[in-house]
Amino acid sequence: MDAVVFQGDHDVAVEEVDEPEIEHPNDVLIDITTTCICGSDLHMYEGRTAAEPGIVFGHENMGIVTEVGEGVSDLEEGDRVVAPFNVACGFCENCENGYTGFCTNVNPGFAGGAYGYVAMGPYKGGQAEKLRIPYADFNALQLPDGDEHEDSFSLLADIFPTGWHGTELANLQPGESIAVYGAGPVGLMAAYSAKLKGASKIYSVDRVPSRLDLAEEHCDAIPINFEESDPVEQIKDDHGGGVDRGVDAVGYQAIDPDKEADDDYDPARENPAIVLNNLIRTVKPTGELGIPGLYVPDDPGAPDEMAAEGRLGIDFGLLFEKGQRLGTGQCNVKEYNRQLRDMIIEGRADPSFVVSHRVGLEEAPEMYQRFDDREEGVTKVLLEP
Ligand SMILES: NC(=O)c1ccc[n+]([C@@H]2O[C@H](COP(=O)([O-])OP(=O)(O)OC[C@H]3O[C@@H](n4cnc5c(N)ncnc54)[C@H](O)[C@@H]3O)[C@@H](O)[C@H]2O)c1
Ligand SMILES: [Zn+2]
Ligand SMILES: [Zn+2]
Repeated sequence: MDAVVFQGDHDVAVEEVDEPEIEHPNDVLIDITTTCICGSDLHMYEGRTAAEPGIVFGHENMGIVTEVGEGVSDLEEGDRVVAPFNVACGFCENCENGYTGFCTNVNPGFAGGAYGYVAMGPYKGGQAEKLRIPYADFNALQLPDGDEHEDSFSLLADIFPTGWHGTELANLQPGESIAVYGAGPVGLMAAYSAKLKGASKIYSVDRVPSRLDLAEEHCDAIPINFEESDPVEQIKDDHGGGVDRGVDAVGYQAIDPDKEADDDYDPARENPAIVLNNLIRTVKPTGELGIPGLYVPDDPGAPDEMAAEGRLGIDFGLLFEKGQRLGTGQCNVKEYNRQLRDMIIEGRADPSFVVSHRVGLEEAPEMYQRFDDREEGVTKVLLEP
């Protein structure tokens, strides 16, 4: 079958790979109907992780069940399902407590597994024609038959729950104000979640005009372009004293507008602590910070030696002085995906505004490059094998 295979720095190709097979009675196989490219894939694509060539990418997967292991009780051939990007067992202590992003059974020596991702276990990605889902009763969320809401449902694998998770980590309550750094797919989903939860004021910070436009139009957010002037000052000018809550939907490859380079996405423009420090300044004393944006303990392309080991110059003194709290980590997708699915089915939520492209698998190499360039108008790319 065809699959998107990592070749090395800024290079993916569609190649022929072995089809998955049932490896354990609890597995199912699915034919992929939609699989998405994620900002998390870009960290690997740009050579900013320990990922080796040969990985089949794709952790945001949905499709139709084609084969069912003997131990699976709740799924049948023909079922339409979406899989959380986390692979989880369902019965370890972390899974039992709802922390399925930190399952201790699926990736020996590590807490947490995922499809098609460096260090997240042996699970092949779903940017391919077929996928094996382990512990399938636990990991496959069933969807209504047919092809309705295909775009929105595909976002249940990661970014809609992850954006929601950002607001949960920040403990956002109805009527509160929030600033979301990053208006990529995850940041837009965080701002949209804040709107669904009844935030009184939402700020969306980025530099890509088309992304800020989406935040304004669909999330009722106030757009803040951080290349124009200090985003913290812009927010405080509008909302003195700072906002109640903040979300980092950018991660370690954050751009520092005070640094220059020929290419906007040159690592020379990065400052991995800038968003965290901006959040500490933006959020009021005793406020809370949700950090779904990714940080890594090893960054081969880091701008300095400390950052190469994931050590960042965070203004911890100011955080302490302001009595702020923060939450981090992979999203536990299963914590939210059922309820968010039902909001989509009942017409209470429509996250599909974030989808800019739906293309065939063969266009993946071109779309990786355009998404990586944060080209105007390229927001969320869905692949249809
Ligand atoms: N915790 C999780 O479970 C989880 C899940 C999915 C994605 N992620 C992470 O979330 C982050 C965002 O993912 P995405 O798909 O939206 O990717 P993305 O790279 O498209 O979005 C990042 C956005 O941040 C903007 N940005 C860069 N520097 C900034 C700054 N200083 N201030 C404000 N905005 C800035 C960029 O212009 C871009 O639009 C990535 O780090 C990704 O790995 C985490
Ligand atoms: Zn993702
Ligand atoms: Zn587990």
